[in-house]
Amino acid sequence: MLLTEIDHVAIAVRDLEAAIQYYRDAFGAEVHHREIVESDGVEEALIKVADSYIQLTCATHDESPIAKSIAKRGEGLHHIGYRVDNCAEALAAMVAAGATPIDKAPRPGSRGTTVAFVHPKGSFGTLIELVEE
Ligand code: CO
Repeated sequence: MLLTEIDHVAIAVRDLEAAIQYYRDAFGAEVHHREIVESDGVEEALIKVADSYIQLTCATHDESPIAKSIAKRGEGLHHIGYRVDNCAEALAAMVAAGATPIDKAPRPGSRGTTVAFVHPKGSFGTLIELVEE
């Protein structure tokens, strides 16, 4: 088994501050880590739940994948991050099983991780991110 943890559940939101406030009001949740990933056109606020995260994500510009996703499908679940020990190995295993990679090779993600995205087409409709800490 190559998966070691659900790393994060990513939720696309229009207003990051409003989403953070909502999670604070509803759950008493505090932001554990916050980061702008300019290369991905996103700003993330990570709320830690045990050893996993809820990743509230908003777009930093109109061409961001998050902006396009919200325009097409509205706010809501965007992708799931599966934690793995070795991103390259897990990506190769997924491709061998028939997955369509978005990232041909692992690349830097937020909070110092190494990540690779895999297309929902070929993965039963779920955008999957492999996350190596
Ligand atoms: Co993610």
